[in-house]
Amino acid sequence: IKRRPLVAGNWKMNGVKASIAEFGRICEGYDHALRAKVDLLVAPPATLLSTLAVVALGSRIAIAGQDCHPKPNGAHTGDLSAEMVADTGASAVIVGHSERRADHGETDARVSAKVEAAWSAGLTAIVCIGESRDEHIAGRTLQVVRHQLTASLPEGVTGADTVIAYEPIWAIGTGLTPTTHDIAEVHKAMRHALVARFGAQAQAVRLLYGGSVKPENAGEILGIADVDGALVGGASLKADTFLPIARAYL
Ligand code: G3H
Repeated sequence: IKRRPLVAGNWKMNGVKASIAEFGRICEGYDHALRAKVDLLVAPPATLLSTLAVVALGSRIAIAGQDCHPKPNGAHTGDLSAEMVADTGASAVIVGHSERRADHGETDARVSAKVEAAWSAGLTAIVCIGESRDEHIAGRTLQVVRHQLTASLPEGVTGADTVIAYEPIWAIGTGLTPTTHDIAEVHKAMRHALVARFGAQAQAVRLLYGGSVKPENAGEILGIADVDGALVGGASLKADTFLPIARAYL
């Protein structure tokens, strides 16, 4: 199975109206050559979803939410349902990011429920998993990742509705990255676990790496077997750093 690479930008809690122009530069830079090789996606804060979805029209850049509630509607002040995210024009939603897990106490079970909510709204779920620094040091990475993968995914995962992002927590925003050997090992283990559970259709699920990806290391990281792209935080905020990461595929 041939998987089309995906470079996804997660803006996190960054971006106001003034950032729309920067997104426009990202759209302009997603030229014919890049489009032929790699999918691009940007997950802005919720306040910019609708606007960026309009700006993105014609560029073929996908827009994603950064979270959704597991319930379809109701008394959940401050939350967004998956339907609301889809209603902005977004086609995907990130769920289970380690910052959500840490800041909002999100469990694997809740993440799994969010994946189902995303699917119900017709969104692709971008599910984040990854070990902590202590777990990494203790040599428990594979064990932790396999467990999260099992517990954070409901039945029925396919390549069309789900993307997995492996993000070691200690590599997020720190400038640290695992060795290419370690990334390769984790991605191989994830692929194996997915195929064992979901069958051959899991071969089409894209497995992204996230954590301090920048133009300088993109070539090396995106060149690893079983790495189908990247989930980029800080470097996705500017066209000057986001586009060169995607250009690693040219
Ligand atoms: O979702 C993105 C990741 O948390 C990576 O963030 O590229 O700033 O390390 P970073």
